[in-house]
Amino acid sequence: MTQAQLAQTDAPLLAVRDVSVVFGGIVALNGVSFDMQKGQILGLIGPNGAGKTTLFNCLSRLYQPSSGDILMEGHSILKRPPHRIAEIGIGRTFQNVALFPNLSVLDNVRVGTHARTSSDIISDSLRLAWIRRSETSVNTKVHEILAYLNLEEVAHKTVSGLPFGTQKRVELARALAADPKILLLDEPAGGLNHEEVHVLGDLIRRIRDDRHVTVLLVEHHMGLVMSIADHVVALNFGRKLAEGTPAQVQADPDVIKAYLGSKDQ
Ligand SMILES: Nc1ncnc2c1ncn2[C@@H]1O[C@H](COP(=O)(O)OP(=O)(O)OP(=O)(O)O)[C@@H](O)[C@H]1O
Ligand SMILES: [Mg+2]
Repeated sequence: MTQAQLAQTDAPLLAVRDVSVVFGGIVALNGVSFDMQKGQILGLIGPNGAGKTTLFNCLSRLYQPSSGDILMEGHSILKRPPHRIAEIGIGRTFQNVALFPNLSVLDNVRVGTHARTSSDIISDSLRLAWIRRSETSVNTKVHEILAYLNLEEVAHKTVSGLPFGTQKRVELARALAADPKILLLDEPAGGLNHEEVHVLGDLIRRIRDDRHVTVLLVEHHMGLVMSIADHVVALNFGRKLAEGTPAQVQADPDVIKAYLGSKDQ
């Protein structure tokens, strides 16, 4: 292997470089940098108002950093609009589930394949009609994902009638249908009970292991982050407070102080 190839292997999949976001007078993020390595589950934690969602929204391109850069496989993503990040391998779920409530589980997941199979301007509904008729390879893949996430039984049910936990799994299925390299998860444990959180943790790990998806997990549920993350980045008041293994971050005096001083936990 040449030196250049070696350097490429070591290069982070995603690099956050000195990112700041200012809203009016509020500095929501202040010079935050960290790397995500391929295959990592990276937990992003911090008390309320720390800047987690702001950073997540920069990664999914909903917010534009005031300064700094975000690189995916060495290339800046900052000129890319939100609807064009799936095609470079960034997938996401939403904190409050953003599915088409009146469509079936199957059709919601079919729509997810759009991102990687077409970059034209056909609307989701037109495309859906087309997929339903003809695209067997897409359908095979969608059924594989539904089976993988244990959703086959509800494939033909309308999403709006399903329990919240199941809807979240459908959202995960939709994100996976676009074959992401990185999956951005915004508080996936929110609204789930203890047992469901445990199942979710296993599932996220399984997705990383089986499908080689790198995961960024923004999460308040400390138990979940500490049990599945390989690497943790802690934010407070828009700055990076600490990063390291879950054990290192959990023992960090600044992190302990930040959490004791907040209403979290
Ligand atoms: N669109 C916005 N306009 C103005 N200020 C914002 C906006 N989004 C976030 N902020 C501010 O930026 C700071 C960081 O907020 P952010 O939502 O990123 O925190 P968070 O870590 O996600 O908090 P939480 O744990 O409560 O979800 C806060 O002071 C918040 O009020
Ligand atoms: Mg938030």
